[in-house]
Amino acid sequence: MLCLGIETSCDETAVAVLRGRQVLAEEVASQVAEHATFGGVVPELASRRHLEGLDGLVTAALGSAGVGLVDLDLIAVTRGPGLLVALLVGMQYAKGLAAGLGVPLIGVNHVTAHLEAVHLDAPVAYPYLGLVVSGGHTHLFRVAGSNALTLIGHTVDDAAGEAYDKVGKMIGLPYPSGAVLDGLAQEGDPAAIALPRPMLDRDNLLFSFSGLKTAVRTYLSRAGQLPESGGSAPTGAALRDLAASFQAAVVETIVTKTVRAARREGLERLVVGGGVACNAGLRAAFAAGDGPAVHFLPPRYCTDNGVMVAALGMAQYAAGVRHDLDLAPVPGLAALLEDEAATAAVS
Ligand code: KG4
Ligand code: ZN
Repeated sequence: MLCLGIETSCDETAVAVLRGRQVLAEEVASQVAEHATFGGVVPELASRRHLEGLDGLVTAALGSAGVGLVDLDLIAVTRGPGLLVALLVGMQYAKGLAAGLGVPLIGVNHVTAHLEAVHLDAPVAYPYLGLVVSGGHTHLFRVAGSNALTLIGHTVDDAAGEAYDKVGKMIGLPYPSGAVLDGLAQEGDPAAIALPRPMLDRDNLLFSFSGLKTAVRTYLSRAGQLPESGGSAPTGAALRDLAASFQAAVVETIVTKTVRAARREGLERLVVGGGVACNAGLRAAFAAGDGPAVHFLPPRYCTDNGVMVAALGMAQYAAGVRHDLDLAPVPGLAALLEDEAATAAVS
C-alpha cells in the first residue's frame, strides 16, 4: 500500500510517502526560526505557512519517491490535537486529494502517531506503556493497539518541552531550547543547584513542571542572573550547572512516574516518543533503570514528521478504521480520544 502522510498540527509542515513500512520520501519545512522571533508559535502565521508550503512539499516528496499522485492508495493526515487553524490546512488539502483521486482518507491522532512510529524500526508487542513528551504533551498511555489508547497520566500545567523552552527563554537561549539545554547539561553538575521534583511525593501519575520553572526563576533572580530583572544571564560553568540541575529534576520526575505507571498497569514494555524523547539525559536514565524494557523512537522521528502520520494511517486502515470526507479536526486531546473511542465502539 502506498500512503501519503500529511502533518500540519503545529509549526512544521511535514509530508512523507511510505510503501508499507518502507519510507520512500519525506519532507519537512520547519517554521521554528520564524516563530522564534515571537518566543512561541503564532497560530495564524503557522496556518499561512502551511498553506503556502504544503503543495510544494507533496510534489517534492512524490518526485523523490518516484511515484505520481495516481499511484497513491491512501491519504493520512493529522486530525488533532493541535492548533485548529493549522490542522484545517492539512485536513482540507488531504480531503481534496482523497476526493479527487478517489482514495480513502484517514485522520490520525498526532500523539498516537508519535508513539506508533516505533514499529517502523522494530515492531513492539502490545500492550505497552506509551510516554509522549514534547512541547505540547507530557502524557502516559496504556496502548493496547494502534487505535486503542487509554490516557493514564498527564501534566497538570506545562509540558516537559514547554518547561525547557520557558527556562531557555528566561536566560535568552534561542527557541526551542530543549536540545541546547540538553547539550549544556552534559557538561554541568546536576547537583549544583537544589531544585524541586514536582509531584514526586504524590502517589499519582500526574506531572507538573510549572513550579519547577518558577523555582529556576527564583534561583536566577536571587543569584542576580535573571535578565528580566536587570541581571545578566548565567554563562560558562554557571549556565552548564543550571542546565544540568534543571535537566536532573525533569528527568527524575518523568522516569519515576513512568516506572510507577508501568508497575501499576503491569506493563513490561515502554515506548517513548515526542521531541523530548531526543533528550540524552532521559535516554540514559531509562536505560540505566530497572523499569520496563524501553524503546525510544529514532531521534529523526521524535520531532514532528509526516512518516509517523502515514505509518499510523496505514495501521489504522488495516485495522478497519474508515473516515468520511466530513471528518472534522479536533484540537484537544481529551475530545479526540473520546471521539476515537466512540467511533471504535460503534464500528
Ligand atoms: O514533538 P515536537 O517536535 O513538537 C511538539 O509536538 O511539541 O517537540 C518539540 C519540543 C520542544 O519543546 C523542544 O524544546 C523539545 O521538544 N526538545 C527537547 C530536545 N529536543 C527537542 N527537549 C529536551 N531535550 C532535547 N534534546
Ligand atoms: Zn508532536
